[in-house]
Amino acid sequence: MKPIIAINFKTYLEGTGENALILAKKIEKLKIQYGNMFEFIIAVQTADIFRISRETNIIVFGQHFDPIAPERNTGFISINSLIAAGAKGSLLNHSEHKMRIDELEEAVKIAKNYEFQTMVCANDPLMVAAVASFMPTYIAYEPPELIAGDISVSEAKGEQITLAVKFLKNQKNSIPLLVGAGIKKKKDLAIALKLGANGILVSSGIVKAKEPDKILEEWILEVKQNM
Ligand code: G3P
Repeated sequence: MKPIIAINFKTYLEGTGENALILAKKIEKLKIQYGNMFEFIIAVQTADIFRISRETNIIVFGQHFDPIAPERNTGFISINSLIAAGAKGSLLNHSEHKMRIDELEEAVKIAKNYEFQTMVCANDPLMVAAVASFMPTYIAYEPPELIAGDISVSEAKGEQITLAVKFLKNQKNSIPLLVGAGIKKKKDLAIALKLGANGILVSSGIVKAKEPDKILEEWILEVKQNM
């Protein structure tokens, strides 16, 4: 399995509307160049999914959906709308959009029926273990206190990453683990992979960067050099 670089556009203006498409195209260029080494996933706002899915060749995820059936659910996000727009999966339970545990379980279950991928976020290794029982496609460990800061999960939470990696590897169907929060330095991606993670989930370090493609390429090259 190729390591994964997942980029969460959040609701940053730099990752909204026209800007989201421009950023997605920059990431697509990196995919063309380094797609043999890495899998690239972008998680964008619901309204941006349709256009980005059509105008780029990159895996597009939503950032959330609600475990609702179609019909009368004004203002909720249905999985059907994400699929129709071209999304291949969605983040769930991001610390900025927490879900009740029973709703999270239900959402993962619904996604399986549609063969729709899920990347479930977890605040700590205990939560990683809890959500693993739902068998999502991916789990993303993100300590909330490090999100958008300058200290990365790779630097500050090495032990917890190792713990989560070990736990998931020991399960029957091992679920790939991504790690995220504060990833900004050249070495952060390489360290995460060295610790056994299958990839990263990053936002501000790329979405808010002046030259996001240049930064991401530096991280990729850092991994390449140490291979
Ligand atoms: O989902 C990604 C995330 O919450 C990490 O954000 O800005 O610390 O890379 P950031």
